[in-house]
Amino acid sequence: MKQIDLRSDTVTRPSPEMRRAMAEAIVGDDVLGDDPTIKKLEAMTAEMLGKEAGLYVPSGTMSNQIALFTASNRGDEVLCETGCHILNYEAGAPAVLSNLILHTIDGKRGIISAEQIEQNIRPINVHCPLTKIVSLENTHNRAGGTIYPLETISAIEVVARRHGLWMHLDGARLWNAHVATGIGLDAYAAHFDTVSVCLSKGMGAPIGSVLLGTADFIEKARRARKIFGGGMRQVGIIAAAGIYALENNLPDLAQDHDNARYLGEHLSPIPGLTIDLETVQTNIVIVDNEKMTADDFYSRLADKGVLCIPIGPARVRFVTHRDVSYEECQKAVENVEQVMAN
Ligand SMILES: Cc1ncc(COP(=O)(O)O)c(C=O)c1O
Repeated sequence: MKQIDLRSDTVTRPSPEMRRAMAEAIVGDDVLGDDPTIKKLEAMTAEMLGKEAGLYVPSGTMSNQIALFTASNRGDEVLCETGCHILNYEAGAPAVLSNLILHTIDGKRGIISAEQIEQNIRPINVHCPLTKIVSLENTHNRAGGTIYPLETISAIEVVARRHGLWMHLDGARLWNAHVATGIGLDAYAAHFDTVSVCLSKGMGAPIGSVLLGTADFIEKARRARKIFGGGMRQVGIIAAAGIYALENNLPDLAQDHDNARYLGEHLSPIPGLTIDLETVQTNIVIVDNEKMTADDFYSRLADKGVLCIPIGPARVRFVTHRDVSYEECQKAVENVEQVMAN
């Protein structure tokens, strides 16, 4: 039985064409600045996002953490949304690596407003930590793949600039926001000093993220990458997969969004399940179950070959991606119906 793996868009496997591109990559020692393939990927990504320079790193976590580390001093404060990835899923890295305080703000479906940012900036006062960074997440993973409205980002930037704050974007799935809205990647990125994008999620590469910013900042970030152990040698082999993904896979995200919409619309009428359909804007569907625990739901569904991921006591997440077809989503719905009927 082939599993229908809807746990995450990180489970995609490189296609034969992508593997071929990896096998044929021209490589060199990137720590010595010799790898042409990585240079091409960094330049390509920077151009797509309208930034001066890019830095390839092994993971989205490292990319976010290098940005925070490089843009801050010990004890500084980062304003972020309560459900954000840098707080909930990066193993405490902002505290461990950069001695940062994460000051959380409850968003609506993951989105915080400029007014909320303004209200949470600390006064300049010897007693208070220094508010230094605003970190946003687009799309917002835990909120269900929700998209930051561009006007909200723009209004937040106005407040941040007035207070001299650094704007960082965790854009692990910025590609999805771009494909869903048609808003340019560069139009989103223009509001931020640093942007992190991941190639290993819906884009289908096996590894890799790119941190973008000014050439000056990226030079400092390169040093931070070495400190964090992320300097890699013949890295063009995996960078080639990233280039392949950028050249070929971006438009396919639209199908993932249609599939997620299908899942949301067909799972929500099932008795015992609740979905906030307004959050189903890209490739993530969050489902609350009134009949069984998330662990129970997960294992009963797994027995039928459909995988989701528990993210709360009664809450699971389904994520669509390029290795799950529309027909498999239809099959997943049938399996959920059976599990909920028994
Ligand atoms: C929004 C967001 N940011 C960052 C990351 C971290 O990426 P990685 O797993 O490559 O460290 C993820 C991973 O799922 C994510 O969803």
